[in-house]
Amino acid sequence: MNVLRTIEEARKRSRAAGSRGARVGLVPTMGALHEGHLSLIRAAKAKSDIVAASIFVNPTQFGPNEDFARYPRDLDRDLGLLEREGVDFVFVPSVEEMYPEQGVTWITVEGLSERLCGKSRPGHFRGVATVVAKLFNIVSPDLAFFGQKDAAQVAIIRRIVRDLNMPVQIEVVPIVRESDGLALSSRNAYLNPEQRKDALVLFGALNGVRELFEKGERGSAALIRAAKADFERIPAVRLDYFEIVDPDDLTPVTAINKRSLVAVAAFLGGTRLIDNIVLEP
Ligand code: PAJ
Repeated sequence: MNVLRTIEEARKRSRAAGSRGARVGLVPTMGALHEGHLSLIRAAKAKSDIVAASIFVNPTQFGPNEDFARYPRDLDRDLGLLEREGVDFVFVPSVEEMYPEQGVTWITVEGLSERLCGKSRPGHFRGVATVVAKLFNIVSPDLAFFGQKDAAQVAIIRRIVRDLNMPVQIEVVPIVRESDGLALSSRNAYLNPEQRKDALVLFGALNGVRELFEKGERGSAALIRAAKADFERIPAVRLDYFEIVDPDDLTPVTAINKRSLVAVAAFLGGTRLIDNIVLEP
């Protein structure tokens, strides 16, 4: 497995693969890898000839009061995991390599960038969209793999690829969960034992909504009311949003008459967790 630190090296490696006709699959990550990330790598292995991963804690997608500085970083462990999965090359740029000067060019996806997490994390999706576009320009992947865990991120990246005619196929991989249902996240490491228990309310509330939906409830207002009642029972968890939206444009739906995304974000102390399910009538 090659560990490439510069844009030039990553470009060369990927071009060499492309010129042999190999299909390159890219898995962008911020490291602190867990089984969720590894499921993306396995999906990439199954569909690509050459698997590339990137590890870059992208400063431009963190707000000024967010966890950029303390975001978990363990490069040696991450590289070991990727090597074991049979990744061909990893791009691990420094912040200076990716942003040698203050960038003035940004990708914003109008409307979408301000919905769901974009509402409470202004600038977040602008940072995500821009760094993903940069990674695509550097690695030129034929396929790129993203997790359903970040459903809004998926909607935004799909839209960029469509609007800007990027020659990359976006593949989405299901959410990997702990045995008790908590969605795997690098940020779960921040939770103390009490918070780890309380965190189950996210998936619990989503499952509650699924049950009501399966009994025939279609109205978003009633479904959201039931979910919010679940959160009120755990006062240590502060709900950021609980929304039912169109999975492509992220606008709220009043009733689930077509495939819909039920998405939640909540704070446990200073830790912000997200989760979602998709319901289909
Ligand atoms: P990061 O949070 O490291 O996640 C990298 C990829 O792993 C994302 O596509 C995310 O959706 C996926 N992922 C995370 N947890 C998952 C889980 N439990 N099950 C399945 N997939 C999961 O998302 C980012 O990094 C960044 O925004 C990035 C796209 C790398 C741009 O900086």
